[in-house]
Amino acid sequence: MDSIRNNYLNNLFSLAGKTALITGASSGIGRHLAHVYAKAGANVIVLARREQNLAELAESIKNDGTAVEYITADLLAYDDFKALADQISKPLGPPDILVNAAGINLRQAADDVTQEGWEKTLRLNLSVPFYMAQALAPVMCDKGYGRIINIASLQSFRAFENGIAYGASKGGVAQLTRAMAQAWSSHGVTCNAIAPGFFPTELTAAVFDNEHVNQHHAQATAIGRNGQMHDLDGTVVFLAAHASAYVTGQIIAVDGGYLAK
Ligand SMILES: NC(=O)c1ccc[n+]([C@@H]2O[C@H](COP(=O)([O-])OP(=O)(O)OC[C@H]3O[C@@H](n4cnc5c(N)ncnc54)[C@H](OP(=O)(O)O)[C@@H]3O)[C@@H](O)[C@H]2O)c1
Repeated sequence: MDSIRNNYLNNLFSLAGKTALITGASSGIGRHLAHVYAKAGANVIVLARREQNLAELAESIKNDGTAVEYITADLLAYDDFKALADQISKPLGPPDILVNAAGINLRQAADDVTQEGWEKTLRLNLSVPFYMAQALAPVMCDKGYGRIINIASLQSFRAFENGIAYGASKGGVAQLTRAMAQAWSSHGVTCNAIAPGFFPTELTAAVFDNEHVNQHHAQATAIGRNGQMHDLDGTVVFLAAHASAYVTGQIIAVDGGYLAK
């Protein structure tokens, strides 16, 4: 009976035999997801600019017996995403799962936003996820299986102070996710996003370094605390696995009820 149950759960949630590409994996949410997908059985390819962080991550994942490769790349410096996709696909084969986790938040007030800051934010947070997906989706479609997971935000739904460029990019990510779903889901390639609440990473240091702001956001949730990395695990495995085959074009808030309250 136990083996029947285990097989049932494995068929739904195991990522064995799949390869996941995670951008922005040198820190924060991307790094955590690399560990999660490896534990769920996937081979992983991690990408960001900081080589030492990636090498350390790869080493720690390899110790779990997973095939892992890292690619040092500045996503803002690329024009030819097809060439990048070919480079990414060489060592472990083309990814079945793409997580677009690279992102920045420059926290500039509307009156202070520079053209450079605006364009970098929109390009990395919104345009790059599309270019990456456009380069990788055709092979997923040919295989009849693909999972594209974007990282949206509370700011996909509501404004926060000093968030005009970031919020515009994340509002775009929500619609991009729906449009990607429309484009590729009929070929078995689903596209969804998670919208995390506040999780402690380099990007949110300004929140977690200030106890008042930290508490303010914790109290704004229904659960009464901010996110801990493991709170993401179930949703991101679900969205990468067979279990979510009929779920596409959705933005799933993993926010302790912040948006619900
Ligand atoms: N933390 C939260 O509470 C929260 C909430 C909602 C949404 N998010 C979203 O979650 C995603 C991950 O954020 P995080 O909180 O984990 O932040 P983080 O720790 O600062 O991670 C950002 C990642 O993006 C990479 N990156 C930045 N610029 C890049 C570039 N030009 N080329 C390639 N990679 C680049 C960084 O690596 P390198 O510096 O090594 O390149 C890093 O690995 C972002 O999209 C963010 O908007 C986070």
